[in-house]
Amino acid sequence: MEREFLFLKPNTVRRGLIGEVISRLERRGIKIIALKMIWVTKEQAEELYQEHKGKSFYNDLIDFVLSGPVVVMILEGPRVIEMVRHIIGNTDPLKASPGSIRGEFGMSVTKNIVHASDSLESAKREMKIFFSENEILNYRLDVQHDL
Ligand code: PPS
Repeated sequence: MEREFLFLKPNTVRRGLIGEVISRLERRGIKIIALKMIWVTKEQAEELYQEHKGKSFYNDLIDFVLSGPVVVMILEGPRVIEMVRHIIGNTDPLKASPGSIRGEFGMSVTKNIVHASDSLESAKREMKIFFSENEILNYRLDVQHDL
């Protein structure tokens, strides 16, 4: 079982797309084991995007993430990272396939609806920025996986 960190960016919340995104994940049998709506702090945003520090878009990206509440979650499932990256599509909505979340709702490379960790290591690091162990729930999902 893998775990993936994912958050719905501020404009996704403002556009009323929380349910739309979550529903697409649930329909693929992805299990949500932690979820909350928060206003990200500057420290959390800088830690999350530390690999982009110094890049031309860094300041705009941080400001954007701080511009409103976001929904953060941890997902669990077999090959969940690969599956989520596939469902959300390319970082740039122009390159994302039309049926993907970013391909359908993304506005720009910054306003691209969701952030999802790109590897097991980054998922582990990123979920720790937002969740403590006791916020991760253990329960049975009534979905059969063949992966
Ligand atoms: S990804 O999908 O996270 O692996 O993509 P990556 O290229 O590593 O991350 C880029 C993140 O920076 C945000 N961003 C931009 N990227 C490229 N160019 C511009 N101009 C830019 N502006 C913002 C982009 O939204 C990615 O954020 P996340 O939260 O990872 O989607």
